Amino acid sequence: VSLLPESDRILLGPGPSPTAPRVMRALASPTIGVLDPMMLAMLDDVRARLGRLFRAPAGSLALAVSGTGTAGMETVIANLVKEGSRALVVVTGYFGDRLAQMCTRYGATVTRLEVEWGRACEPDALERALRTTPADIVALVHAETSTGVLNPVDRLAPIARAHDAIVVVDAVTSFGGQRLDVEAWGIDACYSCSQKCLGAPPGLSPVVFSPRALERRVRCRSFYFDLKWLEDYWIGRKYHHTMSSALVCALTEALAIVEEEGLEARWQRHERHHLLFLDRLKHLGLSVLPPESERLWTVNAVRVPDGIDEAAVRRCLLGEFNIEIGVGLGPLSGKIWRVGLMGTGSAPRFVHLLITALEQAFARQGRQVPA
Ligand SMILES: Cc1ncc(COP(=O)(O)O)c(C=O)c1O
Repeated sequence: VSLLPESDRILLGPGPSPTAPRVMRALASPTIGVLDPMMLAMLDDVRARLGRLFRAPAGSLALAVSGTGTAGMETVIANLVKEGSRALVVVTGYFGDRLAQMCTRYGATVTRLEVEWGRACEPDALERALRTTPADIVALVHAETSTGVLNPVDRLAPIARAHDAIVVVDAVTSFGGQRLDVEAWGIDACYSCSQKCLGAPPGLSPVVFSPRALERRVRCRSFYFDLKWLEDYWIGRKYHHTMSSALVCALTEALAIVEEEGLEARWQRHERHHLLFLDRLKHLGLSVLPPESERLWTVNAVRVPDGIDEAAVRRCLLGEFNIEIGVGLGPLSGKIWRVGLMGTGSAPRFVHLLITALEQAFARQGRQVPA
């Protein structure tokens, strides 16, 4: 018997998001070698598109690392943090914590600016932290997937820059779905993933280094993620490792789709369907965790109502409706569901389908939904 999935799951969790049909077709392209001229042409195209989509300043280096979002995180940290670097990490949830762990692994002395899960970091808090604890690097998550919170990077990055720190931003759940502007906001290094708002399968992680970050590179202790060698491959055309041509084809197509739609239009689409979802949720008597001004458009942290078995709801959605949604992590375990509306998943039909499925799942537990 085949173990392959037999039906398309409707991926409305925190990631992966549904893969766009054009991207699925790109995945089936013939395998080609790493130095094939067709491969090199795609790499050039990906680099140029990523530079534009990150809105990176001239002289930046943008490329896609083999691996998922965590590989992007590791690439950025491994090339900017050395033994004894002072890192201030804003921890607003599970992925801020991962960023702090990554900095520690690469030898940094880490100060954690802890923020209550479900809230964004206040600019004043960062200012105060940097006054008492100077840092070479400030690292933070733009879209905290574990809590559904958007950190105001546009206001936080300039504060870190004013203290002469290198600003590292995790845009895993925002890139392509939520406004992000590397140059205007003063971000020095940023990474994302292929499987959320870009609508490609997991496996590649877009990263960008500004000229300021490139100047402050350290000797990289990772073999796989050494930016110098990645640059030697992407630009110098020298073999480093066997990048998956199938994934490069998929990412090339996914980025082309993003540019055809246009970044602004894509951001607006994600906002519109987030608002539609919130409106429909309200009719079910449900709410989300973060306050209004701190909510992500891409991932919604829906509070589990009292008296509802949250795992049974997820089992019903998956078993009867083929819909995946996410669980709460860490202190939010059992308290929230995480609903992602990302990439092609950000569409009215998925909102209506999910709301109907939730109504059914609640009815199974004897909770009638108001008419
Ligand atoms: C904000 C954030 N950072 C990092 C990661 C890690 O990415 P991956 O699971 O693709 O390695 C995730 C994954 O969901 C994430 O949401």
